[in-house]
Amino acid sequence: MRVLVLTGAGVSAESGIPTFRGKDGYWRNLDPAKLATPEAFARDPQLVWDWYRERRERIRNAQLSAAHEAVARLAHHTDEFLLVTQNVDDLHTRAGLAKEKIVQIHGDIFVTRCSRCDFSDAGRGGSPEPPGASALKLGIGRLRSIAATSEKNQDVPRCPRCRALMRPGVVWFGEQLSRNELERVENFLDGGACDVVIVAGTTATFGYIIDWALRARRDGAELIEVNPEETPLSRFATRLVREPAAIALPRIVDELIAFGSTKLQPQPCGPSAPIWR
Ligand code: OAD
Repeated sequence: MRVLVLTGAGVSAESGIPTFRGKDGYWRNLDPAKLATPEAFARDPQLVWDWYRERRERIRNAQLSAAHEAVARLAHHTDEFLLVTQNVDDLHTRAGLAKEKIVQIHGDIFVTRCSRCDFSDAGRGGSPEPPGASALKLGIGRLRSIAATSEKNQDVPRCPRCRALMRPGVVWFGEQLSRNELERVENFLDGGACDVVIVAGTTATFGYIIDWALRARRDGAELIEVNPEETPLSRFATRLVREPAAIALPRIVDELIAFGSTKLQPQPCGPSAPIWR
C-alpha cells in the first residue's frame, strides 16, 4: 500500500498545542506580520525569539496524542509512506516515525539557524535556546509577555561563525519553502500514485497542500479528510471524518491495516454523501 499523509496544526491540538486559525488559534490574538515574517525579525528579533521560545517550551512539555501514534503505526505497516506535515513541532517524530518518512515543510522549531550564513544548530542536544530561555514561564492557554525588552537583542543568539543573528529554523510568511524538502515531496509524488491519501487537521490554506493531496491519489483511491470543520479540500474527499484526529485516526489506521485500502469499513460517502462518523 502506498500512502501519503498530510497533517496540520489540528493533529497536535489534542496535545495542547494551539492551532493558528481556530477559536483559540495563534492568529486570532496575534498578528503574524509581527511574529512570523523576516521583516518582523529584522524589526524586533527579541520579540520573535520570545514567541518561539514559549512555543518550544510548550512543545517540549506536550504529550503525544493517539493521532501521532496512529500515523506512526500506519507508516510501519505500509510499503511506501510519506508524511508531509506543516507542523514545526516534533510530535510525529517522538511517536516513532522515522525522519526519512517525514517532510516538515514549514521547518523545525527546534532548529536554530543563522540568518546570514548556512550555520545551523539542530536538536535539543545542542544549544537551541538563546540565553535566558530557561527563565521563561509558560502562560496557561495564551501567550504571555511578548513585549520587547529595552535592550532589544539581549537574548538573541549570535552565529558562532559569522556573528549574525540566529533565527528559528522555520519558514516564515513571504519565504520560500526549502528546496530539499520540496524535492522530497516531488520525488514521492513522482514515484507513483497513492492508494490512500489522508489529510488531517489542516485548513489547507496553502495551495501546495491541496495540490499534493490531489496529485497523490490514484484514480479511485481514497482521499480521507479528518477535520471537525469543512476545508477547501472537503469537496474532493471520498471520505469526510468530522471528528478530532486523536479519535478518528486510530480507527482509520486500524481499518487500513486490517483491510487494506480497498476494503475500508464502513463504506459511506462521496463528497456530498453523509459524513462518516
Ligand atoms: P490551522 O490553524 O490553519 O488549521 C487547523 C485545522 O485543524 C482547522 O481546519 C481545524 O478545524 C482543525 N482542527 C482543530 N482541532 C482539530 C482536531 N482535534 N483534530 C483534527 N482537526 C482539528 O493550521 P494549519 O492548517 O496547520 O504556517 O496551518 C497551516 C500553516 O499556517 C501553519 O503551518 C503555519 C500557519 O500560519 C506558517 O507559519 C508558515
